Amino acid sequence: MRLQGKSALITGSARGIGRTFAETYVREGASVAIADINLDAARKTAAEIGPAAYAVELDVTHLSSIDAAVKAVEEKTGGLDILINNAALFDMAPIVEIPKSSYDKLFSVNVAGTLFMLQAAAKSMIARGKGGRIINMASQAGRRGEALVAVYCATKAAVISLTQSAGLDLIKHGINVNAIAPGVVDGEHWDHVDALFAKYENRPRGEKKRLVGEAVPFGRMGTAEDLTGMAVFLASAESKYIVAQTYNVDGGQWMS
Ligand SMILES: NC(=O)c1ccc[n+]([C@@H]2O[C@H](COP(=O)([O-])OP(=O)(O)OC[C@H]3O[C@@H](n4cnc5c(N)ncnc54)[C@H](O)[C@@H]3O)[C@@H](O)[C@H]2O)c1
Repeated sequence: MRLQGKSALITGSARGIGRTFAETYVREGASVAIADINLDAARKTAAEIGPAAYAVELDVTHLSSIDAAVKAVEEKTGGLDILINNAALFDMAPIVEIPKSSYDKLFSVNVAGTLFMLQAAAKSMIARGKGGRIINMASQAGRRGEALVAVYCATKAAVISLTQSAGLDLIKHGINVNAIAPGVVDGEHWDHVDALFAKYENRPRGEKKRLVGEAVPFGRMGTAEDLTGMAVFLASAESKYIVAQTYNVDGGQWMS
């Protein structure tokens, strides 16, 4: 029960990694806002997790929606202790084919969404005066570029940079900002990635997933559960001296 009595908001937690984080945080004693653009899925997820989880409608590309979500958490629990900036979109294309619409969408959710969600959470935490924890979901994709994945990689590099700047600025308020950089994590997100690789690299469906799994030094793709230890640690009292860092949790893919 390392998060006993804490109030958390996890963006994009109706499914995937965010959902697994929510389940874990609830097991550790926190209450969790399942904040997602897909409200029906968020409601279903919250109901399945139990009474400590509740659904909040959130589109991280709209400031009014961000403010309303933070307010909903304040009203429900008395204040926000932990934010996980987890919502993100993925797309890929060769450089000469990238549509501006894809660039705008990914930067708006992955980068602007992270910054302004973080800003709203920080304002709420500062006003309350009890500090807090902010965890941003980066990626190994933010550590170096990839031929077909320019925009997503750039958004995740930006998340690592924002984590550093926000971490340095907010620690004076007792707010620790850090990030997790997963490698390849199996789930619906990677089914979508695999389908795009099948299209652009002319492969059968499922082949890219198999190849990336085999290439991981640990010997397989990650699971959302593989990330929960870091997600709890960075939200817990044990990590209070950790500031502005991005941790690779990727089975040995990247060293930094
Ligand atoms: N799966 C991987 O292999 C992997 C690897 C590295 C990093 N990551 C990162 O981990 C995080 C979670 O990934 P995942 O695989 O669980 O993704 P996912 O696609 O399964 O889930 C994303 C969630 O975000 C929600 N969402 C989308 N747009 C939103 C918006 N505008 N506002 C609010 N919610 C919105 C979706 O409805 C969905 O529930 C992401 O930041 C992703 O970039 C994933």
